[in-house]
Amino acid sequence: MRTTVGIIGAGPAGLLLARLLHNAGIDSVVLESRDRAYVERRQRAGILEQGTVDVLREAGAGERMDREGLRHDGIELRFDRRRHRVDFPALTGGRSVMVYAQTEVCKDLIALQLKEGGPLLFETEALAVEGAETDRPRVRFRRGGAEGAEDVLECDYVVGCDGFWGVSRAAVPDGRTFERTYPFGWLGILADVAPSHDELVYARHDRGFALLSMRSPSVSRLYLQVPADTDADSWSDERIWDELERRFETDDDWTLRRGPITQKSVTPMRSYVHEPMRHGRLFLAGDAAHIVPPTGAKGLNLAVGDVVTFARALTHRTATGSEDLLDAYSATCLRRVWQAERFSYDMTTLLHTAPDATPFEDRLQLARLDRIASSRAAETDLAEAYTGFPIG
Ligand code: FAD
Ligand code: DHB
Repeated sequence: MRTTVGIIGAGPAGLLLARLLHNAGIDSVVLESRDRAYVERRQRAGILEQGTVDVLREAGAGERMDREGLRHDGIELRFDRRRHRVDFPALTGGRSVMVYAQTEVCKDLIALQLKEGGPLLFETEALAVEGAETDRPRVRFRRGGAEGAEDVLECDYVVGCDGFWGVSRAAVPDGRTFERTYPFGWLGILADVAPSHDELVYARHDRGFALLSMRSPSVSRLYLQVPADTDADSWSDERIWDELERRFETDDDWTLRRGPITQKSVTPMRSYVHEPMRHGRLFLAGDAAHIVPPTGAKGLNLAVGDVVTFARALTHRTATGSEDLLDAYSATCLRRVWQAERFSYDMTTLLHTAPDATPFEDRLQLARLDRIASSRAAETDLAEAYTGFPIG
């Protein structure tokens, strides 16, 4: 099999890239190891930055998002029983975010790709990327599980969009990695109950962080900071609601609505960057190159920035013959990646209680939150980062 761009992975990065290339008249083949139902159900991110929303609309993939997504103009910070709202449009010259789940973004892009785009092959596992330093890189892959037949996809370019556990990063030799793990994770639940607040609530509490989010006007998504090795099933539904209630406590009469929990899982937290994001004709995009802890909701949005940057660079190459933007790909992406790493790290250390935190550090956290609540400059810094850094 032969194509212009071989894309490994049909998460948000790979699917959006296929769409952007299709719109630019460049053909691609997407290889995805899991089946369609699995990809469409994998519960992950929920917040789209303004720039991501704009990209999806321009790509012709924003129709259902505009109908069903929820525009959010702010978030609430909760600490010391206090509530403080951060007003995004007022602080950023009109920017906002959209609550529209990653599952829905993927469903929309898959439907478009199958209808209008090039091949999107599910249950097809990339085994290795070969010849990245030549002008004919190849992806060795296998269809239909461990017993399936091996084949080769010959490409002009390969983009590794295969997430943190994929195979493409291994084909970038002499890379350097920067990493930090955290001694806690997030226990996430989906519950069939209307959200208890109309905007997201990020809560810092002596017992640990909690986040109130949503998937729709009738489905809540909530997270609790838990020790890193927690088994989700060891938490009963009642214990989860009791703990959420305590961490969201306020001085006013705010109450948490409870409802049936339909899904429960624990997400580990990690900061990770692999440099460079390119080797020859192999380019890494999204979680294949970098991971952020989820506080701040940057993971999916970073993946979108990477593939937009690649699609622009390749379109430029096709139109002008110039490799300049492809050569700049890694540096262009990494600049934005490090801003998101910084913000995600700041939000994580601002809101989570570390097991070894001293009383001095606890007080500093509260002082940082108080600063955001009382200084327009500090609050603007948060609002600008949350609504998103420019792409490219
Ligand atoms: P992925 O979504 O990981 O997609 C990679 C795709 O490649 C997958 O479909 C995988 O099956 C496929 N693949 C892997 N190996 C191969 C192979 N060898 N051959 C073929 N295909 C392969 N971000 C937030 O902002 N908020 C959140 O709440 C949040 N929660 C998360 C929870 C979890 C458990 C995880 C893992 C991530 C979470 N993230 C969250 C991060 C966000 O979901 C990711 O940043 C985003 O999915 C990145 O998209 P991607 O396309 O780069 O990678
Ligand atoms: C969600 C996840 C996040 O990491 C975040 O910061 C906000 C919302 C969510 O899944 O809804």
